[in-house]
Amino acid sequence: MIELYLDTADIEQVKRFKQCLPLKGVTTNPSILASAGTGLNEVLTDLAQVLGPNARFHAQVVSTSVAGMVEEAKQIHQLPYDMVVKVPATETGLAAIKQIKKDGILVLATAIYSAQQGFMAALCGADYLAPYVNRIDAMGTNGVGVVADLQYLLNQHGLASKILAASFKNTQQVMDVMKLGIGAITLPVDVAAQMFAHPAVQPAVEQFSKDWHEAFGNKLSFES
Ligand code: G3P
Repeated sequence: MIELYLDTADIEQVKRFKQCLPLKGVTTNPSILASAGTGLNEVLTDLAQVLGPNARFHAQVVSTSVAGMVEEAKQIHQLPYDMVVKVPATETGLAAIKQIKKDGILVLATAIYSAQQGFMAALCGADYLAPYVNRIDAMGTNGVGVVADLQYLLNQHGLASKILAASFKNTQQVMDVMKLGIGAITLPVDVAAQMFAHPAVQPAVEQFSKDWHEAFGNKLSFES
């Protein structure tokens, strides 16, 4: 089954979506944590309380050297949760990923803007690959196309890396990448809410209720 994550550090929203969606866990990045104003340790403590011991969390290194990323990855890996270390798929990041994987740490290569970049990260051993669908679209190219090409390359070369598609602004982008058979996806809160929202839903439900009460008053279904 596809792994479904929320891309947020907002605990209240995680509580909300844990109730109605099969969340595998939560992804964060430095910008998300900065805008939440909450550090990684505090966020993880709260998230683990909400999601329980089987949740998986993706947290990004902020070091800018290979040695720094490798050391930071080890520290993140030692946190008492199921952690995946996010490393930007830059020249420096790819070098770090090769080293981090020698220690058997789970790695997500992030900030992927092209299929070739994602493919190099997969060859370096990244367990997850995060192409930024909407950001690619916003640059005038084709985010879904990048994901399709990357999934094709993974299939052709028998690589086990999972695409964890990220950066969405609408549900059409989400549906288009899900149809490609990707292994994981992370949704911002607003797009997660749009996944089950449709203007026709609530009127339909209200009509059922009206028809029922007109015919059977306050009886429940099994009492009628
Ligand atoms: O982690 C990457 C993802 O959060 C980017 O999303 O909405 O900032 O493009 P966005």
